[in-house]
Amino acid sequence: MDFRIYNIKSILSWDPILDKLVCKDDKEIFISNGIIKNIDNKVNQTSNDIDAQNLVLTPGFIDSHTHPIFIGNRANELAMRVSGKSYEQIARQGGGILSSISDLRNSSIENLYKISEFNVCNVYKNGTTTLEAKSGYGLTVDDEIKSLEVIKLLNEKLQIEIISTFLGAHAIPPEFEGKKDEYVDLICDEMIPAVAEQQLAEFCDVFCEKGYFSYDQSLKILETAKKYGIMPRLHADEFVDSNGAKLAADVSALSADHLMAISDDGISALKKSDVIATLLPGTTFFLGKRNYANGRKLIDSGIEVALATDFNPGSCTINSLPMIMQLAVLHCGLTIEEAFKGVTWNAAKSLNRHLNNGVIKNEYNADFILWDIESLDEIPYWFGNDRIVSVYKNGLQIYSRS
Ligand code: NIG
Ligand code: FE
Repeated sequence: MDFRIYNIKSILSWDPILDKLVCKDDKEIFISNGIIKNIDNKVNQTSNDIDAQNLVLTPGFIDSHTHPIFIGNRANELAMRVSGKSYEQIARQGGGILSSISDLRNSSIENLYKISEFNVCNVYKNGTTTLEAKSGYGLTVDDEIKSLEVIKLLNEKLQIEIISTFLGAHAIPPEFEGKKDEYVDLICDEMIPAVAEQQLAEFCDVFCEKGYFSYDQSLKILETAKKYGIMPRLHADEFVDSNGAKLAADVSALSADHLMAISDDGISALKKSDVIATLLPGTTFFLGKRNYANGRKLIDSGIEVALATDFNPGSCTINSLPMIMQLAVLHCGLTIEEAFKGVTWNAAKSLNRHLNNGVIKNEYNADFILWDIESLDEIPYWFGNDRIVSVYKNGLQIYSRS
């Protein structure tokens, strides 16, 4: 279907060539079969045209790090944190990631689909049009495959694009306690080949962190995944410096995520690589911590920074990228323009979608948000306060505020 969007107040989009935010007033956009074909003062009219009602138009937002495939919730852990326990202490005492595993293992794929579908559809209203989703709460061959099958079905059935990441190395399951290397072997010898055979994941992630997977174990997993054509990204240096950023550079990961505890050596390693540093300030906030990742230092070192929600049942239930933008500008030292780049262009790069997603440009996907705002500043300013009027994916409306 062809149509024109007219009466747009302004188009705000990152310009990758100029490497700056560009604001275009009084333009119209012509879209054909979900792809932007022309942006001009006047474009061809059709009988399906959309009146943008003098609203601001931006690209759809890209959430490049989420864990939406889970059952139940861990609200009890919030209460434990309120009474003084840290996320790490709760995890050591049997809570944390492991406490989400038994529910998922006991769940049918239909039930898991239903709950995960709710999690995913809940993000449309926040302007997310592309979402990376990880497995990681199954930790057996069958339960990881079940989780990835749910992601595949969600991508097929829902209107937004859902990009699949295998995260079998999210934690060490209880049956492998004290036998971490054996679990790493299971991931490398059975899980990755099965995932690759069924083409269920584009990326492989590892929680490279003290108490979870070491540099060497993570390296083995990510190198194995690469041999099967599954590209690496990782949870790096979230709570303590675990050489995660260096590992991301060493394996040419697309992204190193969290980085609250990145060392100066880690920064030097990222600087020499093309790895995108993905910051997840919602997690720092949700866990009541103070040590937000130093985005300013990363950007000033020449590293490209993306932002994501990390939506998951344990360390962050925030699913709104506009909220994450506010946390990033207040606590990670980003400017508002850098935060915008982080949820559009840099997020697209971190997911290898920068050839068709992340900016408003000819031949790019017609993924866009219409905002009831006067300026870019208002996007992070209205914290959790709805200024999104409608959201489009591939030229189709997926959300409308009524
Ligand atoms: O990114 N750090 C590892 N994974 C998640 C937490 C998942 C959970 O607690 O269930 C994170 O913070
Ligand atoms: Fe995460």
